[in-house]
Amino acid sequence: MPSESRQAHWQRVYTTKGENEVSWFQDNPAPSLELIAAIGATPATAIIDVGGGASRLVDSLLAKGFRAVTVLDLSGAALEAAKGRLGARADKVSWAVADVTLWEPTELYDIWHDRAAFHFLTEPSDRAAYVARMRKALRVGGHAIVATFAPDGPDRCSGLPIMRYDAESLGKTFGQGFELVETRRRAHATPWGSTQSFQFSVFRFG
Ligand SMILES: C[S@@+](CC[C@H](N)C(=O)[O-])C[C@H]1O[C@@H](n2cnc3c(N)ncnc32)[C@H](O)[C@@H]1O
Repeated sequence: MPSESRQAHWQRVYTTKGENEVSWFQDNPAPSLELIAAIGATPATAIIDVGGGASRLVDSLLAKGFRAVTVLDLSGAALEAAKGRLGARADKVSWAVADVTLWEPTELYDIWHDRAAFHFLTEPSDRAAYVARMRKALRVGGHAIVATFAPDGPDRCSGLPIMRYDAESLGKTFGQGFELVETRRRAHATPWGSTQSFQFSVFRFG
């Protein structure tokens, strides 16, 4: 899908639906927070939430004292929603409106977090562009925490086709230099009570 159509899709989603009217809404991003803690993150850890949308992960990280948090998303409307919720605390966050497959990182991060953005990349060239950005943005010794739909999860999200992964197939897609350190299957309950199977995988880069 061309970047402009992708952006139009996500802008439409975030301008027409409330926070808990989307399947991926989480009141508490516990699976991500557990993995961030498990790899020994401290408040000084630089973390980027790629395709972070209006997720509440940023709220939780600020509450835990994280001082170097970046949220990147294709949809400016998603980031405005998160900023509106955070109020003055939004000033403590770096916000980037960008398509991750075209973005040029200018800083290094200790943690690259992505819940349910990578799996929308169905074209090999887009996946390669994403991985190139991840390689450039991650500090050696840093970690990628990537959550996608699992092999027994849905094959579409937000009306778009997605790719399903287990930890092994995700590791193969990322290629050399990403060592799998942890993997967890998690059932996500949507706001309307259905269940979606997610695969959370943690890779050490370097
Ligand atoms: C299913 S939502 C998940 C949002 C958030 N990570 C969460 O867990 O609540 C997917 C998000 O990825 C963003 N996204 C999709 N493709 C993207 C791309 N190529 N670059 C940056 N963000 C993208 C969308 O705008 C959307 O916010």
